[in-house]
Amino acid sequence: MNPIRAALAFFRFRKPWEKALAGCRHVLLNEPLALRTSFGVGGLAAVFYEPENRQELRAFLKHLPPKAPVFFLGAGSNVLVADRGVPGVVIHIGRQFADIRVEGARLICGAGAPLAKIARVAAQHSIGGFEFLAGIPGTLGGGLRMNAGAFGSALGDRLVSVTRVERAGDEADILSPQAAFGYRQCQMPANGCFVQAVLQGKKVRSAASVLRQMAAYQKKRRAAQPLECRSAGSFFKNPPADSAGRIIDSCGLKGLRIGGAAVSPKHANFIVNTGRASARDICRLGRLVQKKVWQKMKIALEWEVRYWGKE
Ligand code: EPU
Repeated sequence: MNPIRAALAFFRFRKPWEKALAGCRHVLLNEPLALRTSFGVGGLAAVFYEPENRQELRAFLKHLPPKAPVFFLGAGSNVLVADRGVPGVVIHIGRQFADIRVEGARLICGAGAPLAKIARVAAQHSIGGFEFLAGIPGTLGGGLRMNAGAFGSALGDRLVSVTRVERAGDEADILSPQAAFGYRQCQMPANGCFVQAVLQGKKVRSAASVLRQMAAYQKKRRAAQPLECRSAGSFFKNPPADSAGRIIDSCGLKGLRIGGAAVSPKHANFIVNTGRASARDICRLGRLVQKKVWQKMKIALEWEVRYWGKE
């Protein structure tokens, strides 16, 4: 974000509920979000809060005025933050929620646990079924929100139960939550968050086969995806029985650019920040790709990436 904009944002009029939160524990005002997202762009969070634990999160939400918009942030790997920032409360579910416990073939994980770590811990305990998580750059909470998946598996398929904290601060355990999860979607309210999940794997004879499968997936990913660039992974959802990457590629859009944003020449469903992109560049490029694909193929691509704030 340019420094003048940042200064203007800093001195802008604050809503009364923002002022009321200023003195709270673990609350920051005007916190830059760019480096907290994988795109590396975007403005400030009006209020940024990092709860220490579940009890603190619940108490915070109970006292938060109902009008205040709330956004939950994990690793920021599927989020595009507007240049003008997020006019609400961004709650970071991070390291404080990252514990992983193993019980038999089950993993009991905090929502801040990185997906790649869940895959590693499962492998160390000779538990199969989580190999597909190895290269997904997100946390469990964000992964559940999106029902993250790869290579024919998705997180929702591995769930025994989830624990959530809803917007009003109430906590609930949801047993057999699978029905709420579909392809890259979760039907539970976005203004509440996951704090824990119990995942079911399968005991295997040795860790070696699990590690081999993880390495094979990683290799496929490195060959097909521009992991060396800042992006949010797949930008669009795949249409039923097709691939957004194949479709965008067949429209000849690889390399298409707006400002610092480009359609990756390596994988057409990745919009990458080539170094100096703004959120506006990325957003406009996303819309242009949608428009061109619609004009040429009459296919309506749907964003997988979540846009926070106003353009
Ligand atoms: N393809 C092209 N041109 C391209 C890109 C892909 O022709 O520029 C073709 C490929 O050759 C292949 C087909 O399209 O035949 C599918 O491509 P790929 O195997 O790369 O998978 P994808 O459908 O693009 C999905 C997930 C990825 C996940 C991979 C691996 C979605 C939107 N994407 O990608 O998830 O890593 O499968 O399983 O479902 C993500 O969601 O952020 C993500 C990276």
